[in-house]
Amino acid sequence: MNDMIKETEQLKKEKNAVILAHYYVPDEVQEIADYIGDSYYLAKVATQVNADTIVFAGVSFMGESAKILNPDKTVLMPDILADCPMAHMADVEKIEEMRAKYDDLAVVCYINSTAELKCHSDVCVTSSNAVKIVKALPNKNIFFIPDENLARHVAEKVPEKNFIFNKGFCHVHVSVTPENVRAIKEKYPNALVAAHPECKEEVLKLADYIGSTSGIIDYATKTDNEEFIICTESGVGYELRTKNPDKKFYFAGTKFFCPNMKRNSVEKILHVLKTGENEVHVSDEVREKALKPLNRMLELAK
Ligand code: 13P
Ligand code: SF4
Repeated sequence: MNDMIKETEQLKKEKNAVILAHYYVPDEVQEIADYIGDSYYLAKVATQVNADTIVFAGVSFMGESAKILNPDKTVLMPDILADCPMAHMADVEKIEEMRAKYDDLAVVCYINSTAELKCHSDVCVTSSNAVKIVKALPNKNIFFIPDENLARHVAEKVPEKNFIFNKGFCHVHVSVTPENVRAIKEKYPNALVAAHPECKEEVLKLADYIGSTSGIIDYATKTDNEEFIICTESGVGYELRTKNPDKKFYFAGTKFFCPNMKRNSVEKILHVLKTGENEVHVSDEVREKALKPLNRMLELAK
């Protein structure tokens, strides 16, 4: 492993490359990353780094967004098959149908979506800025794609708007049940519950805090409590433990890991740096259209 890490460092210098990693990728990848964060932070960082190449340890919508925001940079994915199933759970026909049905409609697109869906949307959001952005929109009617659970969470926080929901979901987060959370709570009654808004409504009802991965990490770090029940992908455990070596974290559910995020590895990062394989390409036409909602998000989230 040490040799691989040394070689990666060497190649990064030669190619003026940086490694961006989401909190869900394996610990050893987070260890060698130059920037680790949630989807919003990583999208922002991608526009700010002074590098020729970005190696994006995440899933394809993240690499795609980085490329759309930085057409002149080379974006490499360690594993081209790492994809988020939820990113495909909406369709253009339904968007058009909603546009015809509702006046004054804003199509709000969770960044966990394909570039094609972004092309047909008015603004992108991530789990950390969705409430702020939806509140700031002038539109009354909001068609929120693809995630229904995040949409319902945002709708509760922005009751003045009319939401149209879509049936998308994250198979990893919906696998957690209220019973899973209650069972841990029974064992550790003083533990506070922190949940990602992709969890089911019944799970979110049990939460002391609801927020993005970085929101959850911040909450657990700043809150003066020793134990936390974490309802999001177990990869956040790396940062939680690094920042809080004396606190205890219990992950709800039995299989709280995203198989696509876990496709990333140090070996694959080294391979793409060496070969330039798995480069992300986005056509000019798609880029031009998908850039608008992404830029609008960056603007409104400031
Ligand atoms: P974040 O917005 O917290 O990074 O979440 C991304 C994600 O894929 C959640 O499943
Ligand atoms: Fe997609 Fe869920 Fe994996 Fe996040 S955790 S990348 S939403 S499948």
